[in-house]
Amino acid sequence: MGPFARTGSNSLDRADARPQRDQTKMKPANARPSTMTPRDQRRLLDLARGCTFDDFLFTPQFSVVESRDPYSIDLTCRVSEHIVLHRPIVSANMDTVTRAPMAIVQAEEGGLGIIDRGFRPGDIEPQVREVEIVKRTQHGIIPDPYTVSVSATLADASDLMARSGVGTLVVIDESRKLRGLLTERDLRFIAGDLASVPVSQRMTPAEALIVHAGSISVEEAELVMIERKIKKLPLVDESGVLIGLITAKDILKQKRLPFATRDRQGRLRVGAAIGAKGDYLERAAELIRAGVDVIVIDIAHGHSAVMARAIHEFRRRFGGFELIAGNVATTESARFLIDHGVNGIKVGIGPGGGCTTRINTSFGVPQVQALVECRLAVEEAGGSTSLIADGGVRRDGSLAEALMCGADCVMLGSAFAGTQETPGEIIHKSVLLPESQKVVQVAFKVLRGMASLGAIKDRLDVEDADAVDLQAIGAEGMEISVPLRGSARPVFQDMIKHLCSSISYGGARSLSELKQLFWEQPERYLVKLSAASRRESYER
Ligand code: XMP
Repeated sequence: MGPFARTGSNSLDRADARPQRDQTKMKPANARPSTMTPRDQRRLLDLARGCTFDDFLFTPQFSVVESRDPYSIDLTCRVSEHIVLHRPIVSANMDTVTRAPMAIVQAEEGGLGIIDRGFRPGDIEPQVREVEIVKRTQHGIIPDPYTVSVSATLADASDLMARSGVGTLVVIDESRKLRGLLTERDLRFIAGDLASVPVSQRMTPAEALIVHAGSISVEEAELVMIERKIKKLPLVDESGVLIGLITAKDILKQKRLPFATRDRQGRLRVGAAIGAKGDYLERAAELIRAGVDVIVIDIAHGHSAVMARAIHEFRRRFGGFELIAGNVATTESARFLIDHGVNGIKVGIGPGGGCTTRINTSFGVPQVQALVECRLAVEEAGGSTSLIADGGVRRDGSLAEALMCGADCVMLGSAFAGTQETPGEIIHKSVLLPESQKVVQVAFKVLRGMASLGAIKDRLDVEDADAVDLQAIGAEGMEISVPLRGSARPVFQDMIKHLCSSISYGGARSLSELKQLFWEQPERYLVKLSAASRRESYER
């Protein structure tokens, strides 16, 4: 079996309008032929049955890397069939985890953020706005920069700058011809009312700008900017109509973030979740229009008639657009999603930190077993559908386990809880310090399961619903207060460093090699733990 050998290549990047998935199937470039017999597979399944992350350790192997430096170890993977990541981390589509600020950190660091759908039905625009913020954050070439009409006033321009957070507007006329550039600096020190001063009076006119006619690569644009000592390069077509903008700041940022997850235009990538009922198709249409890179149909039980119908309708309307679906946790259910034509599968029924599904229903599959089961289904189907291990990663070492046991990448919720990029208010609580018996005020943020009563209430606007409707809701999630910490960026980077150490301990040179070695000889790696050895390993 060659389950994990597909390292990234830009040629795997998602085409904007792809044909249906069957025609886009491709074999990973460096996949090795299968070495696992059905008997080996059964043995691995037997080992994994009933087990999750803390049930195992891995035996250290002879190390072959000179350094554990994340800059020198290849961690390339895929989040879905046609979208490559350089870091195997995805932030969860939870309304207390991923909105634009988190998605930006994820994509800049080499992972991906999935914007949650925790907005009320019909209320599509707020989710679309989050996607737009990410797509506009940092660009190679901005194809549709913010513009202001040459006949507008400085008050209009100032308004647009405040709303969009953008400090430079391109000035155009009614036929979208470039007329100039207006920056925040042009608005400073204006005596009198901004509403009485036309943009044309303060802008730098097109005649005084360096402008490029026709298309240009980011590298060529950088050379022009260095040579002409400019920071902004507007692009026009042969008749002077605006077709884009390149800024020095974006080019610099791109260089500082070598692993960032970008689309073909150099924009950060972002995903967004939808449901399987109600406004889901309309929501998907708007998200796709806003430039989302991948849609995730996310429901608690993805192996269902509801999911089959939703995928069918999605494919009918949006053709081969990149689609992940979940959650599932068995070979049969992964096979079901593959047969329905998804590009990626989210795996995990009940392992999540804010999740009470297993407690409330007694249904679910321990996460390591679920990953092995789903991996077998993917391999049986040719290996091109990706698997995302979703939930249950409570310590950094579990990341390596999830990836070795079958995942292409890992979705994290509580690992990022309490960081400054998570949405939600900061609350202060009195906490008693046991040593000094002093009471201090500590800042917290709330992490809540998307099936918690609070999240459902907000999503369904059930403040207006009657008590009977409320009682009918079976919550499968909970709310947890998490102490406020700094940025999610060092959390992400630490996990990556630890993953590189795992690769070194595992005797591999890259993530894909570690997986390959593990699947060739799982028994060489897996150590099943007794209760005492689990305590020795993971309890501190
Ligand atoms: P971690 O462990 O990283 O897991 O916090 C994140 C994942 O947990 C799932 N999730 C839920 N599952 N009820 C559930 O059964 C919930 O209320 C809930 N909220 C989140 C989800 O898959 C997420 O990505």
